[in-house]
Amino acid sequence: MKIYKINYLLILGVLLFSYNATSAQQEQDIEDRITKIITKMTLEQKIGQLSLRGTSSRTKVLPEELKQDVRDGKVGAFLNVMKVDYVDELQKIAIEESPLGVPLIFSRDIIHGFKTIFPIPIGIAASWDKETAKTSARISAIEGSSYGIRWTFAPMLDIARDSRWGRIAESPGEDPYLASVLAKGYVEGFQTDNLTNPTSMAACAKHFIGYGAAIGGRDYNTAIIHEPLLRNVYLKPFEAALSSGVQTIMTSFNEVNGVPASGNKWLLTDVLRDEMNFDGFVVSDWNSVTEMINHGYAKDEKQAADLAVNAGLDMEMTSKSYEFYVKELIKEGKVKEDQIDFLVRNILRVKFKLGLFEKPYRSKTHTGDLYSEEHLTKAKTAAIKSTVLLKNESVLPLKMSAKIALIGPLANAPREQLGTWTFDGEKEHSVTPLKTFKDKRVSFKFSKGLSYSRDKSTGGFEAAIEAAKVSDVIVFIAGEEAILSGEAHSRANINLPGKQEELIKILAKTGKPIILVIMAGRPITITNIIDDVDAVLMAWHPGTMAGPAIYDILFGKKEPLGRLPVTWPKTAGQLPLFYNHKNTGRPSDAESFVQIDDIPVGAWQSSLGNTTHYLDAGFTPHFPFGYGLGYTTFKLEHLRLSKTEITESEELEVFVSLTNTGESAGEEVVQLYLQDKVGSLTRPVRQLRRFKRVRLNSGETRIVKFIINRKDLEFVNNSLKPVIEKGEFNVYVGQNSVSGLVKGFVLK
Ligand code: GLC
Repeated sequence: MKIYKINYLLILGVLLFSYNATSAQQEQDIEDRITKIITKMTLEQKIGQLSLRGTSSRTKVLPEELKQDVRDGKVGAFLNVMKVDYVDELQKIAIEESPLGVPLIFSRDIIHGFKTIFPIPIGIAASWDKETAKTSARISAIEGSSYGIRWTFAPMLDIARDSRWGRIAESPGEDPYLASVLAKGYVEGFQTDNLTNPTSMAACAKHFIGYGAAIGGRDYNTAIIHEPLLRNVYLKPFEAALSSGVQTIMTSFNEVNGVPASGNKWLLTDVLRDEMNFDGFVVSDWNSVTEMINHGYAKDEKQAADLAVNAGLDMEMTSKSYEFYVKELIKEGKVKEDQIDFLVRNILRVKFKLGLFEKPYRSKTHTGDLYSEEHLTKAKTAAIKSTVLLKNESVLPLKMSAKIALIGPLANAPREQLGTWTFDGEKEHSVTPLKTFKDKRVSFKFSKGLSYSRDKSTGGFEAAIEAAKVSDVIVFIAGEEAILSGEAHSRANINLPGKQEELIKILAKTGKPIILVIMAGRPITITNIIDDVDAVLMAWHPGTMAGPAIYDILFGKKEPLGRLPVTWPKTAGQLPLFYNHKNTGRPSDAESFVQIDDIPVGAWQSSLGNTTHYLDAGFTPHFPFGYGLGYTTFKLEHLRLSKTEITESEELEVFVSLTNTGESAGEEVVQLYLQDKVGSLTRPVRQLRRFKRVRLNSGETRIVKFIINRKDLEFVNNSLKPVIEKGEFNVYVGQNSVSGLVKGFVLK
């Protein structure tokens, strides 16, 4: 037996060595081929490779001057070429008529689906499931690559702690660990393990960096992030994306501590290249290079080009400062041609890895399986996994015999349910809740009540009330139109828009139970109406298969499986609000908090709690990060640690007993958080470090095991290096970020 084992290990070693040698050789071959191309390039042709040309997504004809620019080698990549025959025509010109036949790369924002639309990314984040992210990306790439698109501007990895920010809709939520798990899923789904696969796409981790930290949740606004926080929170999902081999990075619009990302050498060279060894290419966001003038960081486009090139920004999206000024900057010695060669090399490397030099044209036999049964089924499953049950006063699931009043502006809104960033999604293929109720022959009356989410007219109220009166239960599908979240769509007040709250309150007077289903791009503050409704389902914008997913959940064919990826505030005034906050010197608790209306008239100045809370909104969210109900109940017991003391080289095993205490089978997401009680920098009260989704039958008990290692204890302090500090830690295991069992251990 021993001999066999030695032989096996020897063979494995030889195979591994030869694999590494082969891939090293392949990499060297690519570098050699790039060198040959760059050597032949004129400076204009090099600059051409650095230009990503945007075409309007509504372009109906291909302008002759655009074709001529390709013919002259002035364009390296295109964005939003919507017609597939234009993709073919432009690529043909590049290959057959441009000086060196360097292929173009075609890009698009394929964020959560191409034709088959999955839930918006904040919804995918609510699935707490890497495979759901991977599936969304895989199907997006299969469908999008059939149009010749081999580069997508996803995943968006901006940690978001403020629901007023419109782009929280595209974000992986507020937690760096969950965001990192999702980041790997997205990159693996888009890129597969073989980038030359014609259905693969180069992914783009964006927006680098700190976009979600914009002050007040105001899009594009200032981000002030001290470096330890930037490294401990905002950088983490990008590290994860790099570890999965992401090929491109997009800079963010915002400044980071006074320096706009697109001209930030510390970020793009010192951190991204020198520290993180990124070997793909960096693209600016739309005009973000020339926006450095607005920022007051560049005096003109020439200086913007100088700053961006020398910061290490490889490709300029849509603005043309490189095209107009790099040649002059080289003449003036402000930019070295070697730096231009470096930028070109990064871009050509990705084109080689995508196999574009060998196969520049899209495969005519690759149909993309648009809207295939498999794709639609997976989109529905993703929508179910994303939906979060926030309240259920024993009204869900519904009986099949229930007579329903289907009401609300999103009950039949095929475009809105797709959500933000769905250029190619087609509302004609959207399956709305109304359509599903009809298809499934549900006993229901439909009365919109309001025509769209911002509708302030009450003309439809009467009919809605009449429908409610003759029904057993009201299913009110509320929320936001897609346009009320996403880029440039921040809101200061995040209640339900229009007269939705008013209609819900009037319907509540009928005495019929109300199931509120919310389709929106962000948490919606529902404090005003939570007592008027009997159940609340957060569906985010669920995509093409919103109807079938919501139907299955309402009637108990499927359990809502989502857990909140962001803290849900009571009011926008609490924002930013997140679970992994610091304890402060005066943490709030129920004892110290006095609600504003309970304060005695004439109360003495210092007579109240003197802790960190709002007199009117208190100190807790409406629903915490990680929260979500199901159709059964669970109990956690017997938390046990393998040791009470460990050294940093040892692992810690954590065991907990989970029991399904309800009447039906169901799933729970068991979450493990760590607290580093004392540090050389103050540490968050909790940090998510593991989670496991567990399915149990009614009455079943299972021991859930986690293993914690040194990486989970590491953080960056003011030394700006990762450290592990001895001392006391707490392990919390719970069903969300504020409850659960706790045990301590000491790191010796
Ligand atoms: C937009 C967005 C970015 C997107 C790019 C191309 O302004 O900020 O996320 O990928 O432009 O559409």
